Amino acid sequence: MKIETTNFTKVIGKVNVLDNINVSLESGNIYGVVGRNGSGKTMLLRMVAGLILPTNGEVRIDGKVLGKDISFPDKLGILLEKPSFLGHLTGYANLQMLAKIRNVTKNEDIQYYMNMLGLDWENDKKFKKYSLGMKQKLGIIQAIMENQQIIILDEPFNALDETSVGTLREVLEKLRAEQKLIVMTSHNKEDIQLLCDHTFTISDGKIISTHKNIKHENDLITARDA
Ligand SMILES: Nc1ncnc2c1ncn2[C@@H]1O[C@H](COP(=O)(O)OP(=O)(O)O)[C@@H](O)[C@H]1O
Ligand SMILES: [Mg+2]
Repeated sequence: MKIETTNFTKVIGKVNVLDNINVSLESGNIYGVVGRNGSGKTMLLRMVAGLILPTNGEVRIDGKVLGKDISFPDKLGILLEKPSFLGHLTGYANLQMLAKIRNVTKNEDIQYYMNMLGLDWENDKKFKKYSLGMKQKLGIIQAIMENQQIIILDEPFNALDETSVGTLREVLEKLRAEQKLIVMTSHNKEDIQLLCDHTFTISDGKIISTHKNIKHENDLITARDA
């Protein structure tokens, strides 16, 4: 899949929350967005997901204009700042309910992902009693459990303990190997440096630098030569 933005600008009030964004994103890559609080990281993710419409410019998903040819990208998984689930249900029941909408995810898949991220699907703890980290994990699972081809994760490492950070890194690498298109934000440089093939630095709604991670490229060359 390919996502391309052309001169995407979003004005809210008098502020350019996104200012002339031109990016091209392809499957099999992890893209990182970094920048200070309020710089526009979340807005950039909303742009890719079709959750905000441009004041100027456009987003194309495999050539189709978002908001014109299609309303939302097909097969999109998204975790935004605060994942919202039903408080009176367990995490497992929440995911089962979401899975019923599209009916592509089996109970075993949900159990697999919960086990992987260290959530006990048999535990009867209600979502409202979940810790921040547990909520975060549930949000990550709903974004990936339906084999979504585009995965958008806003600060996915927030509130995760060290072990879970390691697990999530592995999960994201596996998803990249499966040719998913992943866009994530983080304010932890290490997460970005370790994982991302491309990094965008955003400031006041503008992309002020684009960095390609050579490490992954070298890995590819080594693998090819071996
Ligand atoms: N719902 C909204 N209405 C108006 N302005 C908003 C809204 N959400 C965010 N903003 C503004 O857009 C800018 C970028 O915000 P955001 O993308 O959330 O930043 P980041 O995720 O980098 O911390 C900020 O100036 C913020 O105040
Ligand atoms: Mg944000």
